[in-house]
Amino acid sequence: MYTVLVSDAINAEGLKPLLDMPNLEIIQKKSDDPSVRLESIDALLVRSATKVTEQLLDQMPNLKIIGRAGVGVDNIDVPAATKKGIVVVNAPDGNTISTAEHTFAMMASLMRRIPQAYVSVKNTEWKRSTFVGTELHGKTLGIVGLGRIGAELAKRAKAFGMTITVFDPFLTKERAAKLGVESASLEQLLQSSDIITVHTPLTPETKGLINSKSLSLTKKGVYFLNCARGGIIDELALADYIGSGHVAGAALDVFELEPPGEHPLLKFDQVIATPHLGASTKEAQLNVATQVAKEVRLFLEDMPVSNS
Ligand code: MLT
Repeated sequence: MYTVLVSDAINAEGLKPLLDMPNLEIIQKKSDDPSVRLESIDALLVRSATKVTEQLLDQMPNLKIIGRAGVGVDNIDVPAATKKGIVVVNAPDGNTISTAEHTFAMMASLMRRIPQAYVSVKNTEWKRSTFVGTELHGKTLGIVGLGRIGAELAKRAKAFGMTITVFDPFLTKERAAKLGVESASLEQLLQSSDIITVHTPLTPETKGLINSKSLSLTKKGVYFLNCARGGIIDELALADYIGSGHVAGAALDVFELEPPGEHPLLKFDQVIATPHLGASTKEAQLNVATQVAKEVRLFLEDMPVSNS
């Protein structure tokens, strides 16, 4: 008999591969719910809200596998899990399209000031000359990290007549040519882009990748997007550069600490934000839940898993 704890809001239909499994009990409760007997849990399913710390793992001596219904595993202490022999699996591609589409929507909203205009009209105003925007056509989009999401965003931006410059140490000449993007150093990208978007995981190497020094290399009037992970762009440095007028605006779906509360970046009218919605579509949530539930089932049935 296996016990699976689903500790975050995971699409119920996506859990079907596990629901069909004999000898398995599913508990849908927060890991800090006092009624949950952590010591009896064999598999833990999370999105990003549950922080799977070493301390939590210490309370789960029976745990064999952690399934992350999404891409980033930065909310899981993977080294601690590995030390305890716990396998960590994720769903690497189920939310690619949703996140690329959300990034594109944020970019278009930022450049046309749609959220600000919406609030204004709702307040019974009609300020047509206040909300003059900027076209995407003809602009250079700098993409930092051309993984699955970065590549899907590049395709959409190309369709809008943008030039795409990419910094990605793993980008081959062949792939760049196939996607019609220009490969550049981070420095070249910072110097030449009108809009810069980050699509890397958050790791010790990418934390603060965009900092005061990098911001000082950008063109005056540059825009920034972060729909990947809070912390890749140094938030206080970005706030300084927006405050000085060097950076024209930013669209943020993620923050270093979520929810951000009264954050210095949120006081700027030229910063638009959403509450980590990149993967929040019906399609993506069904995809990632199904993908991760299948992996956990395979593991519990002693079959090889692929996304660990
Ligand atoms: C991910 O890493 O998959 C996304 O940020 C979505 C999420 O956190 O649920």
